[in-house]
Amino acid sequence: MATLTRVPLVFSCTVPAPSSKAFGHCHKCNCVASSIPLTRKVPDCSTLSLLSFNSFSTSSSSLSTRNKKGFRRKTVILASMADLSSVLVTGAGGRTGQIVYKKLKERSDQFVARGLVRTPESKEKIGGADDVFVGDIRDPSTLVPAMQGVDALIILTSAVPRMKPGFDPTKGGRPEFYFEDGAYPEQVDWCGQKNQIDVAKEAGVKHIVLVGSMGGTNLNHPLNSFGNGNILVWKRKAEQYLADSGVPYTIIRAGGLQDRDGGIREFLVGKDDELLQTETRTIARPDVAEVCIQALKFEEAKFKAFDLASKPEGVGIPTKDFKALFSQITTPF
Ligand SMILES: NC(=O)c1ccc[n+]([C@@H]2O[C@H](COP(=O)([O-])OP(=O)(O)OC[C@H]3O[C@@H](n4cnc5c(N)ncnc54)[C@H](OP(=O)(O)O)[C@@H]3O)[C@@H](O)[C@H]2O)c1
Repeated sequence: MATLTRVPLVFSCTVPAPSSKAFGHCHKCNCVASSIPLTRKVPDCSTLSLLSFNSFSTSSSSLSTRNKKGFRRKTVILASMADLSSVLVTGAGGRTGQIVYKKLKERSDQFVARGLVRTPESKEKIGGADDVFVGDIRDPSTLVPAMQGVDALIILTSAVPRMKPGFDPTKGGRPEFYFEDGAYPEQVDWCGQKNQIDVAKEAGVKHIVLVGSMGGTNLNHPLNSFGNGNILVWKRKAEQYLADSGVPYTIIRAGGLQDRDGGIREFLVGKDDELLQTETRTIARPDVAEVCIQALKFEEAKFKAFDLASKPEGVGIPTKDFKALFSQITTPF
């Protein structure tokens, strides 16, 4: 069995000398060639943290006083707003991405949520709010607006293999898969992830969480043969690019994803696909989503890469202490 821990950068997406548009091109897709002019709007905390209004805001975190004429004057304390972490999740229309987006929105006391989806249809699917941007990760220029002012990025985009028509499960055999033109793993999982990392870095994003997949140490993993896409190879290469980027990162290599309830199982973390040799190789999508979000809250999650699965429901104690979970991980890649 061929093994691979770090994919060499031989398939480099390096680009020719940057054009006047600041973006170059790899042979299949757009990759950022050099720095992207971004105007990062850093909120002025001095103005955000304490704003006085003579208006009559109903904020619960307000101080009420009366001036000489007896008019009520409210001083609204917005310090907590300045402290909120602005988080962009890409692939927000995907099966795990939309759970992350929803969880972030539900925790508006901690996060300002943003989503990035590929199409207006996906935007509608997740509610169509103004905080959902439409962009294509293969074109870095479409990512710039979504990344401006963002503190953290959660990458949940992925190439998706399609099943060739005509497969009849009643006749046995295995279905065949293909990738649509322009949507091969090299273009989505490598160039697309690289674009996101580059644009985020340029925008000053302080933490990037990337969801990858277990199996990347085995070049002969069956997933690599799907549609001749080498999907795990390209995912692994993007992971390495992130680890080398200098931006604080968390790489979560999930086991088989399941559409089940979250929050009711004990998580298992591992390295180098060791969990694949056990019986516990799956995890519920809501649990992956939760780990993505919790990773933003703990320093212990930074500069770490790990495999993630869970015990079956009813076995062990459901994981609630994420600081302890991240603390037990020692692997930077
Ligand atoms: N499936 C598994 O068992 C498994 C196991 C381990 C790890 N993982 C990994 O876990 C992550 C989440 O998986 P999932 O099954 O929840 O994801 P998913 O439902 O397949 O969603 C992938 C998302 O990526 C988006 N996307 C694809 N190409 C794009 C592009 N060019 N620009 C912008 N967005 C693009 C898709 O948008 P559209 O819907 O518009 O195409 C989709 O929303 C993935 O990285 C996956 O590889 C999956």
